[in-house]
Amino acid sequence: MNVDEIQRKALELGPWVNSFEFDGTTYPLSDRKNAANAELPAPPRKGRAQAFFEVFPDTRHILELGALEGADTVRLARRPGTAVVAVEGRADNLARAEFIIGLHQLANVELMCADVETLDFEALGTFDAVLCAGLLYHLQEPWKLLHQLAKITDRLFISTHYWGGAGTERAADGYTVKLVREEHPEPRTRALTETVLWFDRESLLHAIKDAGFDAVNILHDAPTATVCDMIVACHRTSPHRPSGTTAA
Ligand SMILES: C[S@@+](CC[C@H](N)C(=O)[O-])C[C@H]1O[C@@H](n2cnc3c(N)ncnc32)[C@H](O)[C@@H]1O
Repeated sequence: MNVDEIQRKALELGPWVNSFEFDGTTYPLSDRKNAANAELPAPPRKGRAQAFFEVFPDTRHILELGALEGADTVRLARRPGTAVVAVEGRADNLARAEFIIGLHQLANVELMCADVETLDFEALGTFDAVLCAGLLYHLQEPWKLLHQLAKITDRLFISTHYWGGAGTERAADGYTVKLVREEHPEPRTRALTETVLWFDRESLLHAIKDAGFDAVNILHDAPTATVCDMIVACHRTSPHRPSGTTAA
């Protein structure tokens, strides 16, 4: 496809949450006449796939959750020898991801439209590692996802928000959480439900361990009185999976 064809298709599939780069050009191209007024999508966050491979260097079979428009999917799949299953809950996000993956001619990606709160993970088989970025704080029962993932992988990379302690909290399934109404200005990056539960820091780390990931390496932690960020690489050192299947 040439630049004009890519631009035409990109506009057809848009609007985009993030811009994307292909062959040195950033799409969607800005309309020069209206550039001053045009609201261009921001570029996707860089460096996550790199951080993922730094902690899990020998990873080949990867599950990515909440893939949005496939920015990280492409970075994961461009590493030689990998095969990526990317799950995203919104079909229109996934259509844009499919387009970018097609542009890069990546045959090692399987895209799946599904809600991770109801998906049968065990039916997907096992994975060398799972990338769960920007998703855990979009769930109603985030601890359940951690338990599901522990059945299919020994290595889990999480990038998430947690709640810093102030405000209303309530206990659910033994975890301290905050009920949060989804009000992010970009609706296509929100949860699939109107409200979600955010862990506090202690419960986030507890839930990871409760799921069976006993070795936890905190790569980044930014505590505040409200919205906090954490990036954490989780390993399970025991060869026995919670479901009873044995790690490969
Ligand atoms: C904040 S974005 C994060 C995108 C990307 N992983 C990143 O970190 O930049 C959250 C993504 O997860 C998707 N999502 C939210 N809830 C989901 C669910 N229950 N199941 C599957 N995808 C979901 C949203 O549609 C959105 O694409």
